[in-house]
Amino acid sequence: MSESQNIKSVLTEDRVFPQSAAFVSQARLDADRLAALHAAAARDHVGFWGDLAKKELGWQTPFTRVLDDSQAPNYRWFTDGKLNASANCLDRHLGARGDKLAIRFEGEKGDTRNYTYRQLHAEVCRVANALKALGIGKGDRVVIYMPMVPEAVMAMQACARIGAIHSIVFGGFSSTALKDRIEDAGARLLITADGGHRGGQIVELKRAADDALAQGCKTLDKVLVLKRTGHDVAFDARRDVWWHEIVPKQSERCDPQWVESEHPLFLLYTSGSTGKPKGIQHSTGGYLLGAMTTCQWVFDLRDDDVFWCTADVGWITGHSYVCYGPLACGATILMYEGAPTVPDAGRFWKIAQDHGVTIFYTAPTAIRALMRLGDDWPKRYDLSKLRLLGSVGEPINPEAWMWYHKVIGKEQLPIVDTWWQTETGSIMISPIPGAVPTKPGSCTKPLPGIAVEVVDEAGDVLTGKDAGGYLVITKPWPSMLRTIWNDNERYLKTYWGQFSNRYYVAGDSTHRDEDGYYWIMGRIDDVLNVSGHRLGTMEIESALVSHPAVAEAAVVGRPHEIKGESVFAFVICRGERPRGAEAEQLAKTLRDHVGREIGALAKPDEIRFADNLPKTRSGKIMRRLLRSIAKGEEITQDVSTLENPAIVKQLAGQD
Ligand code: WT7
Repeated sequence: MSESQNIKSVLTEDRVFPQSAAFVSQARLDADRLAALHAAAARDHVGFWGDLAKKELGWQTPFTRVLDDSQAPNYRWFTDGKLNASANCLDRHLGARGDKLAIRFEGEKGDTRNYTYRQLHAEVCRVANALKALGIGKGDRVVIYMPMVPEAVMAMQACARIGAIHSIVFGGFSSTALKDRIEDAGARLLITADGGHRGGQIVELKRAADDALAQGCKTLDKVLVLKRTGHDVAFDARRDVWWHEIVPKQSERCDPQWVESEHPLFLLYTSGSTGKPKGIQHSTGGYLLGAMTTCQWVFDLRDDDVFWCTADVGWITGHSYVCYGPLACGATILMYEGAPTVPDAGRFWKIAQDHGVTIFYTAPTAIRALMRLGDDWPKRYDLSKLRLLGSVGEPINPEAWMWYHKVIGKEQLPIVDTWWQTETGSIMISPIPGAVPTKPGSCTKPLPGIAVEVVDEAGDVLTGKDAGGYLVITKPWPSMLRTIWNDNERYLKTYWGQFSNRYYVAGDSTHRDEDGYYWIMGRIDDVLNVSGHRLGTMEIESALVSHPAVAEAAVVGRPHEIKGESVFAFVICRGERPRGAEAEQLAKTLRDHVGREIGALAKPDEIRFADNLPKTRSGKIMRRLLRSIAKGEEITQDVSTLENPAIVKQLAGQD
């Protein structure tokens, strides 16, 4: 799929799929109930959320104030209420669902483990007590750098239980990225594992953690290490503590620490258009409410579902739809540790069959990759338990949507294409499966209580039948980010600055059709979306420039059939421009260098060396031009404003 092709195909897409009658008859929300929710939210936005928070969450101290907007746009919700996220996910199910499975787990090598709610509760309490024994308490930051194993969820829940703030760093990030995040968060504890299994190999988590600590991380006291792979790793007895030595001996009772609703539940670092990654700060009460209600509305989640969200807990999707949302609803989650194609291309479908998965939620990049492998793989397995399919992370092209619909959904299952962001905490725009007809490539309409508009450059709301512009959110919502950790100025500037604090600016451009359906066109800032992973072009540029051979670099995205977008770097060297074998060698060196600085996911697919970048007379790099060049398009743009128009040919690889 190329970006322009996709935009063309979504703009000419006119297929509409009604919701299936079989689904509607049993759905939590049908069209009438959905309309009633929308009406209630329209009548009283704040009251709507206040009622839901009372009904859905367990409060130790009920709140009396729903929204505090006295410091807008630093909004605060349910401020005088107290609760605990882990008590909401675990303790409150012990009565009715104690013996029901909370987690079904399968490792890449085929090992499986199950935990009932009662068992998970006991394990989480033990881990929580271990954290306390390591000196961790309310408000302390704990960085988690783990594989996709049940202990990762236990670690998150244990932090929540004692009021510690977790910050997960995806296992695919490098030691340098880990160090930066540990330092920015001022973490006192790191929880990691000796390694993880992925693609038949070991992910060297402990080794990367050791490297990170050798580079700095002065606030860290201890490293808690889970033995997962069992391969040899370095162990510093003054600093490192084995999970199996400290956790099992703890008591399986640990009273939850009641925290204010606004107490930060977690930080999660994500890329922006400028500078270093930002620590998105989420609250306890508002966040949990968003994760929970969206599970009910969008996934129609009930407690007999087996919910498989394929995202790693290192991303927001794994926070809201692996750990917090489904457990708060008392459902069973499925966790899988490894790659989708190990030992063969049928692995995902075999897992879905073997564990009786009923709801499957994944990313378009995975759908496209699985589609490529052919229809025979899914056809070999019994997928009859599936009742709902979901997509998240990037626009889904209609072709991939149709394959998902036909081959996996047997033309029966609803597909929910869910638009949201790390910052929004939970799903914002999505079909309601029992109520909203779908169109391939559109995330359809905003959820109840979510106020979305399209605005133009001047910030004026577009009301037409066919509106294209910036996607903004006009009213606060409970699961919104609260700030950027240690940098409220950046929070204000990034999300609210563009239109003088009037709206939350998502950073996406969108198109709204005559039925009020939204079609997301992609980021308007310098943020790339590679396989559903968010990467800042500036971040990759600074990684490149930190190599001694590089004088200057510009990174753009290029449409990619499977990944959605791939990383394309233009590099200016110190000294002569390398050519031939020398250029190839340096390109490899630089790719590895980016892998070390950020992680393998940020490695450029292509590096092109040139003598200069296309700059305007005021010194601005013409990125638009670079994007066209990367796509291999013919240059039709006006290059007369360039200081060095002759460079275009060279950048295009023609010289
Ligand atoms: C960006 C947020 C929160 C989910 C995981 C990604 C893009 C996300 C969709 C969708 C079109 C989507 C947007 C958004 N995006 N979902 N259904 N259709 N685009 O979270 O890393 O914070 O990235 O992902 O561009 O701004 P994230």
